[in-house]
Amino acid sequence: MNPSPSADHGADDSTGSSSETRSKRGAAQPAILAAAKQEPASHVPVWFMRQAGRSLPEYKAIRGEGTILNAIQDPERAAEITLQPVRRYGTDAAILFSDIVTPVFAAGFGIDITPGVGPTCEQPFASRSDLERLRPLDPSVDLTYQRSTIDILINELDVPLIGFAGGPFTVASYLVEGRPSRDFAKVKSLMTADPELWHELCDRVADNAIATLTAQVDAGAEMIQLFDSWAGSLRPEHYREYVKPHSAKVLAAMADLGVPRIHFGINTGELLNDIADAGAEVVGVDWRTPLPVARERTGGRVALQGNLDPAMVLAPWEVLEAEVLRVLDDNAGHPGHIFNLGHGVLPQTDPEQLERVIELVHRVGRTDGPRS
Ligand code: CP3
Repeated sequence: MNPSPSADHGADDSTGSSSETRSKRGAAQPAILAAAKQEPASHVPVWFMRQAGRSLPEYKAIRGEGTILNAIQDPERAAEITLQPVRRYGTDAAILFSDIVTPVFAAGFGIDITPGVGPTCEQPFASRSDLERLRPLDPSVDLTYQRSTIDILINELDVPLIGFAGGPFTVASYLVEGRPSRDFAKVKSLMTADPELWHELCDRVADNAIATLTAQVDAGAEMIQLFDSWAGSLRPEHYREYVKPHSAKVLAAMADLGVPRIHFGINTGELLNDIADAGAEVVGVDWRTPLPVARERTGGRVALQGNLDPAMVLAPWEVLEAEVLRVLDDNAGHPGHIFNLGHGVLPQTDPEQLERVIELVHRVGRTDGPRS
């Protein structure tokens, strides 16, 4: 039977500690935590980025009107949305229902999430005076809803909860561009024209990420992921100069908390070694880079997460099945593998296809040699 949230706990008796979750599970280390340390596990662990949300009918039924920032601030609803995919798929981890812009929203920078578009700001970040709109975050005051959501989840889950924050480039790109961008022209021009301001902006974004992630781990998250989704739009020298020091600072601040750290972006084939250098135990790989190439580029010093093309989940089962088996074969039974998509679940995904993917990975994936 797949791991699933236990049904016998209410929210009210929660004290929100991860040791409670661990004792409920017994002594065995969850497969996903073993994989993050490159240790063999009972099975190949799987979760899906953006596993909650738009592809699930049960999400649409409870999401409610308005922006998702409303749903995120409602702990009962946010906890339920986090649990939905764990229940349906039997994933090896839950990911907190939140967004990468939650910390900057909570810090008072005017930002919203426009349905069907993504994060938008009426007044994008343009000059030094805009730094004032990014005050330091105090999670015990600014993110009380996050704590309440995690308190509920820790009581309900018997798989690890993944906390997350946006990476410096990706969050700054929304602040500077004011909306999702294809070419990142404004953010790249600010970065190169005024490096001093850029570094101050990233410093504030990084501090807010550290505060958010630390609060998530204090509340009971057992892994964290830094989503620098769009960092792959930079050439390696620019990544090294403008972004990597800030990501490294976030990851270093998490080093002593004892939770595995995942560092993710798409289109990062040429950046993988730098991303591995920045300090996480696990590096996310998209479908453009085969896992053996990623392993070579990262020198085997990190575990890998990925890398099924999310569009293949829309293909007929025979095609999808072959793609899943190819990812497992590419990994060749290496213990340091967390199966995932190379990017988030597409909104038009049929959840039954993901159910079949997870069943297949759990059935045939091995962490001690080629698949059975
Ligand atoms: O299962 C989960 O992963 C849920 C939690 C989650 C959300 N956003 C909820 C959400 C996570 C981990 C994110 C991360 C996030 N947000 C990223 C990094 C992941 C990636 O895709 O690279 C990014 C870039 C964002 C910014 C963002 N927020 C975008 C681009 C969008 C899509 C806009 C749209 O409607 O197409 C959002 C909105 C969003 N965040 C939704 C969800 C479930 C959909 C909004 C809705 O239901 O209205």
